[in-house]
Amino acid sequence: GATAIVLICEGSTFIAGADITEFNRAPEEPFHDEVIARLENSEKPVVAAIHGTALGGGLETALGCHYRVAVPNAKCGLPEVNLGIIPGAGGTQRLPRLIGIEAAVKIIASGVPIGAAEAHKLGLVDELIEGDLLAGALAYAEKLAAEGTPPRRIKDMQATFEGSGEIFKTMRAQLAKVKRGFEAPQRAIDAVEIATQTNIDEGLMKEKEIFYNCLISTQSQSQRHIFFAERKATKIPDVPKDTPVKKIESAAVLGAGTMGGGIAMNFANAGIPVFLTDATQEGLDKGIGIIQKNYASKVKKGKMTQEKMDKVMGLIKPTLDYNDLKDVDIVIEAVFEEMELKREVFGKLDAVCKPDCVLATNTSTLDVNEIAAVTSRPEQVIGLHFFSPANIMKLLEIVRAEKTSKEVIATSFALAKIIRKTAVLVGVCDGFVGNRMVHPYLREAMFLLEEGALPQQVDGALYAFGMAMGPFAMSDLAGLDVGWRIRKRQAATRPKDERYSAIGDKICEMDRYGQKTGAGFYKYEPGNRVPQPDPVVDELVIQESALVGIERKAISDEEIIERTIYALINEGAKILEEGIALRSSDIDVIYVYGYGFPAFRGGPMFYADTVGVKTVYDKVAEFHAQHGKLWEPAPLLKKLAEEGGRFADFGK
Ligand code: NAI
Repeated sequence: GATAIVLICEGSTFIAGADITEFNRAPEEPFHDEVIARLENSEKPVVAAIHGTALGGGLETALGCHYRVAVPNAKCGLPEVNLGIIPGAGGTQRLPRLIGIEAAVKIIASGVPIGAAEAHKLGLVDELIEGDLLAGALAYAEKLAAEGTPPRRIKDMQATFEGSGEIFKTMRAQLAKVKRGFEAPQRAIDAVEIATQTNIDEGLMKEKEIFYNCLISTQSQSQRHIFFAERKATKIPDVPKDTPVKKIESAAVLGAGTMGGGIAMNFANAGIPVFLTDATQEGLDKGIGIIQKNYASKVKKGKMTQEKMDKVMGLIKPTLDYNDLKDVDIVIEAVFEEMELKREVFGKLDAVCKPDCVLATNTSTLDVNEIAAVTSRPEQVIGLHFFSPANIMKLLEIVRAEKTSKEVIATSFALAKIIRKTAVLVGVCDGFVGNRMVHPYLREAMFLLEEGALPQQVDGALYAFGMAMGPFAMSDLAGLDVGWRIRKRQAATRPKDERYSAIGDKICEMDRYGQKTGAGFYKYEPGNRVPQPDPVVDELVIQESALVGIERKAISDEEIIERTIYALINEGAKILEEGIALRSSDIDVIYVYGYGFPAFRGGPMFYADTVGVKTVYDKVAEFHAQHGKLWEPAPLLKKLAEEGGRFADFGK
């Protein structure tokens, strides 16, 4: 008979976690807990042999085994918190018993997998196997059997820690900062603490209870929504999976400014050679200098080797000669935001670039159809709207113009994957999806100042709601002058009877353009990006209320949230109806990945569903009656409210 057992998986990986589409169904036999208990209770030593990724329920299965061996490039992790839940099959009870509570909390509450070498160091993996895993695992098991080593059951171990219970308090406080607003990491600590207090059976029961409470929570539903939404965003109904994709082996970026430099870094990081051009040698040198500084700071922080930096810098090729672009597979234009200039540039590109070159613009407000129209090949033209800083922000809006070909769309999605962006398809309109929605959001934030709030109060309420930062801190970060220039251009055509706040303009008139000038809605100490409330701005705001004849009143945090977030939702509903976004979940992805909307609220449209579309509509209707036509409810919002519908069910 057998003397020991090896548990190994076929294919590219060990068990990589639960099928999360099953979370909404009743579990089927054999139940996971029972399988794990059978493994753990085996009289003969059981060895898990891990390759690929042992994640979630997969790692929990391995923890039911008595020993674990792994190939050096395997990964182990408990990523459940990313879906707003905690491990529910013993992970929180066994891992701390095996590797100690601090290491366990780090793995469980961060959700980040660790490599096999680290797992080995922690004692999670008993032996690293170079070469053939099965052979190595069998040899390991045979040795155990030969030496008469008994099963080592984690359930019989003690989860101990040094020092007092203060350690849990400290860990909770730390996590409240790094995972601000997220419930699951806190619950994970609760579960680990339980492991130190009870026997395994009671611990497993309590873990299960916490797991189910998390599973039905709005936070978990929201995080799972975002998880699926991100994957759904890549599915375009009329661009099937088998649409031919052009391989991108070389690229060019026009304009070495704020955006161009960051975009070029994306290509270099992915190993794709990229030309970077500018109008002048000076502009080019400046752009290259900034890229260099960016990489150098990574090297200094130990996040990149000098060797890698030399390699990526070598892939970025500065040039002033358009002829260099004749063979590249894609050009991304990021010159000044002026239509005349863009038209001129695209005319030149049309003349030099090869016929199947993708011609992309990073414009944030201009009409991509108009840009495409100056070329002889509008089907090759697309918008690729990056977010600042382009080397860091995950979001990419892919802007489909009227004539953009399916191949170019499919190629853009494929490229997004290569340069590690989360891509969402949007249609042409002023501001596309993200910036178009942010406009009414910022507008209401500004009106709230006139009505009685101060920037720090508005930002404080939205920060507490979970936004990465409030609207005024965000504006200061992005720079106030760009919007100011646009507003000046629009001033002549703005309807006279439309409410308009001049506060933003007045701040700019004081040469306060945000962080880059050391002052905007806030002031900034040199070298410090933390916004400091500024009495000068408070005074300006208070004067402005008087000037426009509004008596200042106390504004509640609740009103701040409703006025700003519901403004987002109302505009989002219009965007959906116009077909600028394909589906409601696409908007959610844009807001979570591009605008710091909290994932635990699922994005603005999903948030509306969780609050109740009717509740949102009623409030919007109330604001409409109170504040006038800028609050006209979107017909779709009204319709869904009347039907008892949800945004999540609307769209393709
Ligand atoms: P920027 O002013 O920092 O950079 C523009 C660069 O283009 C400058 O270096 C300029 O010298 C260069 N340039 C001007 N004319 C040129 C020409 N004929 N050929 C080659 N280079 C030329 O501007 P930024 O912020 O990088 O914006 C660039 C584009 O990206 C704009 O269309 C803008 O709307 C868009 N965008 C900007 C975002 C931002 O947050 N700054 C976000 C997303 C898009």
